[in-house]
Amino acid sequence: MKAKVDPDLCTGCEVCVETCPEVFEMEGDLAVTKVDKVPADAEETCRQAAEECPVEAIIIEE
Ligand code: F3S
Repeated sequence: MKAKVDPDLCTGCEVCVETCPEVFEMEGDLAVTKVDKVPADAEETCRQAAEECPVEAIIIEE
């Protein structure tokens, strides 16, 4: 599974970084993914981050 952040949508609220720090980190005002492939043990929190993002900026690819 892969995840990415749409930089045009992200408002930098940091919910994803708090929910799933294994995958997301802040780069300036925006979140980015720091891994190419989501580790198996972070998939659940990664999905949760995608659901919780208020602007739905997180794209999950299975
Ligand atoms: Fe951005 Fe959504 Fe994360 S707004 S900082 S991708 S929770």
